[in-house]
Amino acid sequence: MIKIAVLVSGGGTNLQALIDAQNKGVIKSGVISLVISNKSDAYALERAKNAGIKNLVISKKECGSQDEFESAVINALQENGIELIVLAGFMCILTKRFTDEYKDRIINVHPSLIPSFCGKGFYGLKVHEEALRCGVKVTGATVHYVNEIADGGKIILQKAVKIRKNDTPEILQKRVMKQAEWVILPKATELVCKKLIKQKRG
Ligand code: GRF
Repeated sequence: MIKIAVLVSGGGTNLQALIDAQNKGVIKSGVISLVISNKSDAYALERAKNAGIKNLVISKKECGSQDEFESAVINALQENGIELIVLAGFMCILTKRFTDEYKDRIINVHPSLIPSFCGKGFYGLKVHEEALRCGVKVTGATVHYVNEIADGGKIILQKAVKIRKNDTPEILQKRVMKQAEWVILPKATELVCKKLIKQKRG
């Protein structure tokens, strides 16, 4: 089993989807072993506690710098033997130093069909506001590997979601989460775990 860490900052509905997928056997090649939040008031921490998953808060502010923050996260990952990192609504940028350390071992879910509405500044509701402003008829979500370029790593899975006439950014955000993010993040996690197991076996 691949030891998985989930990094979060907020409500943690994607974390919940991962926990549920693990309980249902959709994720069977890995085990969620650690949840790290950069925010002490993230509801995602409650979800981890309720599921009996070890959880930690590592605050960038308290660490003092990006470098020290990344070192603290890496230490926690190493201490817990983590082999795969899943970013699930994690609102911190990771530098090349971090992404190189875990090359092909960090995945992220982004609420659009990359390469649309992604990159620096495209997070949260902003993504859906832009999709509606542009008048696209289809949007969706993407799970991709994480490298030093924001939303720039290799795509693993995508799922399309239709835009409806009376959509607001909030309504669209919810539909994209329900129909796409919560579906493809667990699936991609299992795919990458399987791949890592294969690699280990050589
Ligand atoms: C999701 O839309 C995710 O794609 C984005 O932030 C949101 C996180 O939601 N990066 P949650 O914390 O998983 O509920």
